[in-house]
Amino acid sequence: MKRKRRKLRKKRIRNCIIGFILLIGVIFGGVSYFQYTHSNSYLLKELGYQKDEIEVILKQDPKEIDAVLKKEYQENMVSLLQEQYFILDNLDRYLSYSKKNPDKSMKDVVTLVNVNRDKEFYENSKKTDTSKKELMLVNKYYALGKEYQPTDIVPISNQYCYGENEIKEEVFDAFLEMWNAAKEEDLTLIITSSYRDYETQEILWNRYKDQQGQEWADSISARAGSSEHQTGYTLDIVTYNSVLNDFENTDEFKWLQKHAHEYGFIMRYPKGKEDITGYDYESWHYRYVGRDVATKIHELGITFDEYYAYYIENK
Ligand code: DAL
Ligand code: ZN
Repeated sequence: MKRKRRKLRKKRIRNCIIGFILLIGVIFGGVSYFQYTHSNSYLLKELGYQKDEIEVILKQDPKEIDAVLKKEYQENMVSLLQEQYFILDNLDRYLSYSKKNPDKSMKDVVTLVNVNRDKEFYENSKKTDTSKKELMLVNKYYALGKEYQPTDIVPISNQYCYGENEIKEEVFDAFLEMWNAAKEEDLTLIITSSYRDYETQEILWNRYKDQQGQEWADSISARAGSSEHQTGYTLDIVTYNSVLNDFENTDEFKWLQKHAHEYGFIMRYPKGKEDITGYDYESWHYRYVGRDVATKIHELGITFDEYYAYYIENK
């Protein structure tokens, strides 16, 4: 009788343990299933992303993953996310620009949208943030306006320029250093244009427009209020017997290509980047941005418009 009762108790305990284990299993399974169906990986799969795409997406910042999860499946999403200069705030604009321009690579889409090329030139221009000083951006989207005048402007001695010229003092100091370094190699840098006020730029642009029409004027000259020359941070540089367009064939130009950044200058409108800058190639137009930024731009091989969008405005 005693043995029978002991046996029964043992059986009950065993059943309890089995029941408990089963309960834990069910709870654990339920929790795991809940977690899985709420995981980013599951949600991305539900949206239609493939395994390899999901792997890439999950490596991005949490904010970027969230943005992907809020949208329908996008076939360009993964390529976009991997672009070096991808800016999350521009995601919708990238997607819509790439739909309108299916032949463009994602690299071009990111570059062009970052520099606002999905918008018309001169329409809804923003005011340039002049507090950025030598890093202020002035182009067909960022304007200075009529009233802007730089401070610390000094005259440039005739030894260094053709005609009357003036420029910000710090730019002239950097130019002098560069001029002396070039001279040591028997090269002569000559300034042909420097600080230009609003009115001068207006006269120039109108003259070009009268000569060959608005489209041409816009391709080679800034409209008044939108020229970097008005910042006091820009110099047009040539050498003896070289007008603007053949400056690129001179040793002085080759020297500047190698060394301008060491003195804080960048060639502002490079060949092949016309779509980005909005201007024809100008081998003579140099913008002072300071040594560090000039060196970074030189090393990255990008324009100032791209640099500003990614490294200044995006931060
Ligand atoms: N030539 C340059 C674009 C200017 O007019 O400022
Ligand atoms: Zn210029």
